[in-house]
Amino acid sequence: MGIGFGSLLLLCLSHSVLRVSADAISGCNLYTGNWVVDQSYPLYDSNSCPFIRPEFDCIKYGRTDKLYLKYKWKPSGCEIPRFDGVDLLKKWTGKKVMFVGDSLSLNQYESLLCMIHEAVPNARTSSTRTDVLTIVRFEDYNVSLMYYLSHYLVDIVSAPMGRILKLNSIQAGHTWLNADVLIFNTWHWWSRTGSAQPWDYIQDGQQFFKDMDRTAAFTIGLQTWAKWVDSSVPLTTKLYYQGVSPIHYHGQDWGASTTRTCIGETQPVNTSSYPAGPVPQEAIVKNILSSMSKPIYLLDVTFLSQLRKDGHPSKYSGAKFDNDCTHWCLAGVPDTWNQLLYASILQGK
Ligand SMILES: *[C@@H]1O[C@H](CO)[C@@H](O)[C@H](O)[C@H]1NC(C)=O
Ligand SMILES: *[C@@H]1O[C@H](CO)[C@@H](O)[C@H](O)[C@H]1NC(C)=O
Repeated sequence: MGIGFGSLLLLCLSHSVLRVSADAISGCNLYTGNWVVDQSYPLYDSNSCPFIRPEFDCIKYGRTDKLYLKYKWKPSGCEIPRFDGVDLLKKWTGKKVMFVGDSLSLNQYESLLCMIHEAVPNARTSSTRTDVLTIVRFEDYNVSLMYYLSHYLVDIVSAPMGRILKLNSIQAGHTWLNADVLIFNTWHWWSRTGSAQPWDYIQDGQQFFKDMDRTAAFTIGLQTWAKWVDSSVPLTTKLYYQGVSPIHYHGQDWGASTTRTCIGETQPVNTSSYPAGPVPQEAIVKNILSSMSKPIYLLDVTFLSQLRKDGHPSKYSGAKFDNDCTHWCLAGVPDTWNQLLYASILQGK
């Protein structure tokens, strides 16, 4: 018997299942909803994923509570589609997919590597890594997943007067143009001060500033980036922006006492609006994206992540943070960001 009736039937079934899931989410707002416990989660075992850096590897560094691994995002109007790593690799065959941004981009990148690795654990991969660029190739699918470290998207240059954050310049951008899919993010480094701030001056046009309002600087930098995308990125490149990732250092933000941080949090907030309200920079991102001429899809993950005060490494980080309420444990919240990335592809976005 050649190709059996059974496998034909399976083929038809799997096609109709995929079509149903695409139909079921067309028109669904994926970003309003709540977190529900699902015992089939997490989507992979962090122990068996070779791509997780110490700062996200919470279980390895002593986290013992497990409920945070069990939450599934449930959009109000639909079910989030099951993540199909093989299908995604097939959709991306021959392509280079690049995350560009700070360590929150890295967080989502490593999550995606783990999710795909879980789908094809024996696939041949090869990796290279320099200061700013990490590449993992899934050889059998001819797919390269890349992460380019850029804290601000705009440039920092060294000059005799000191290090200058140049709000109007994206020289580094030419290396991003090779990618077929680009997923950008920046915000967290804009608010850094003192020794955590990697520049001495800000340049805007011909003017130099010792400092300026950080949200204003971020806005100018992101406008520069938007103009660069509109004028330089090929029309065939698929574009995404990874929404602002929220932090949990202030208990009052979620209705707890002011002395609380994410330490010891084991469950999400379960409300339809976050007590502290939206992250202000998110509105700026939306505004700038809507002014762009190239189509770009916002992974609007801010609100759903605000609810996840339980998702951070806190003291269970293998990096030298004693209380990290910025990044996210893997497995964990960024897996949902990637499920939503996949869902947006199924939605034809
Ligand atoms: C949150 O509340 C909704 C209904 O308001 C409920 O269906 C859901 O199970 C709750 N989630 C958790 C994690 O308690
Ligand atoms: C991989 O994809 C690239 C870009 O589409 C193509 O140029 C190359 O020939 C492919 N390599 C293989 C081995 O299929």
